[in-house]
Amino acid sequence: MTRTLVVGTGIAGLITALAHPRPEQVMVLTKAEPAASNTYAAQGGIAAVTEPPAPGDSVAAHVSDTLTAGAGHCDPRAVQALCADGADRIADLIAAGVPFDRTAGGGLSRGLEAAHSVARILHAGGDATGAGIADALLATAARAGIEVRGHTLVTELIADGARVRGVRALTSGGGQVEIEADAVVLATGGAGQLYPFTSNPDVATGDGVALAARAGAALADLEFYQFHPTTLALPGNFLVSEAVRGEGAVLRDAHGVRFMMGVHPDAELAPRDVVARAVADRMRSTGAPVRLDAIALGAARLAERFPSIDAAVRAAGLDWASEPVPITPAAHYWMGGVSTDLAGRTSIPGLYAVGEVARTGVHGANRLASNSLLEGAVFGHRAALATSSDSGAWAPELDLAADQNDPAITASSPAGARPRCTRASMQNLMWDAVGLGRDGDELAGAEQTFAGWADGDQAGSEAGDDLGAHEDANLLLLARLTARAARLRTTSMGAHHRIDHTRVLERTP
Ligand code: SIN
Repeated sequence: MTRTLVVGTGIAGLITALAHPRPEQVMVLTKAEPAASNTYAAQGGIAAVTEPPAPGDSVAAHVSDTLTAGAGHCDPRAVQALCADGADRIADLIAAGVPFDRTAGGGLSRGLEAAHSVARILHAGGDATGAGIADALLATAARAGIEVRGHTLVTELIADGARVRGVRALTSGGGQVEIEADAVVLATGGAGQLYPFTSNPDVATGDGVALAARAGAALADLEFYQFHPTTLALPGNFLVSEAVRGEGAVLRDAHGVRFMMGVHPDAELAPRDVVARAVADRMRSTGAPVRLDAIALGAARLAERFPSIDAAVRAAGLDWASEPVPITPAAHYWMGGVSTDLAGRTSIPGLYAVGEVARTGVHGANRLASNSLLEGAVFGHRAALATSSDSGAWAPELDLAADQNDPAITASSPAGARPRCTRASMQNLMWDAVGLGRDGDELAGAEQTFAGWADGDQAGSEAGDDLGAHEDANLLLLARLTARAARLRTTSMGAHHRIDHTRVLERTP
């Protein structure tokens, strides 16, 4: 029997598998090709205080920046664990062969991103950090003999009494399989496909949060969805990394005005939620896209430091070395998810969650740039150790956060025949009502509409062997739960901005 079953092949899942002391007892599942993940698409890098630290940097400084960006909503214990474990996890990644970029002197090259007080972002291949990490970890897993099974979508968690004992899954041939496990680790990533405009790949359909919700796990902070301020304002919303602004690019409105100077003392390097809202406001007031002006960096630097973005921008027929390029905010990262302790334990015995699917409390109301890859590495490692020493007793180290507004949040929706929706109609309603600015009446209306559409809680029985139908059911369930969480939080905080409530919580750690 497989002792530990990991669902997902991003950094969190692969580190969970690789850090397990008995890799022969680990199996990894993923619904698509193993390289299809948010990790693979990650550009900017991974934030960490390494040894020796950058001048002026320290774990305490990284903690402080993370707490400040999180708008007062982080769990300080989780943030401390995240930042303190960083150096060891970077050493693991280097040992696994991740080709981090180096300075001429051979040290690690470090970039700056928004809301970091020090340049501490490690990167690989310029702006291909995620691909460098995923390639190295997949190769290491293959060498270690870890079974990685692609094209296998988990459709249900199997419980034996109160404990999760395995999964039901749909294979690419349309067959259903049951796989037993002593521990199931959800590492399924985010849910950018909740929105019509997203930096995420097609696979980001929130499957793990939906599985956990149906099993009755505690969820929290679903209302906090981060929008990245700078994706190309073209179909596909290709991400233009915050690292480009870290290197000096600025934002200009349709009249050429550098408007961020009047919004926040840190201008383009203000916390991500602040920049995203300001961009959206400026687009609304001018009726035209905002532009990213990277001309000062010059063609050679843009091509050398940002080869992937350079290629994408030029493939779109734009020359960003000579003209500002149109950008727009897009859904990027979910701070909320399945509540866990510091070792990935959820409220259900035998069920763990790591990476973006989890709500550890490290990101609060707004994630600090480039903390997500670090989160995957740190909490994947911690979960690996916890699963391997799991004696059957289930005692999470922390009180697990449940939705603070409604601890009884459940996955059930009204019974009876209900009309089906298209994914596009769900996404458009999410963008309009549960997007960058939210209004209580619109949130209530959206929640009701989502509840009136069929199949959010019926995935296993109704979706059959249609993978897309399972994903749609997962997204619809999550849309309803997110609209509900956003309706219930009547203060603005970080990425959750209520335009009908003026009380904004202070951004203090
Ligand atoms: C980016 O490169 O701008 C994204 C980094 C992140 O989301 O942490």
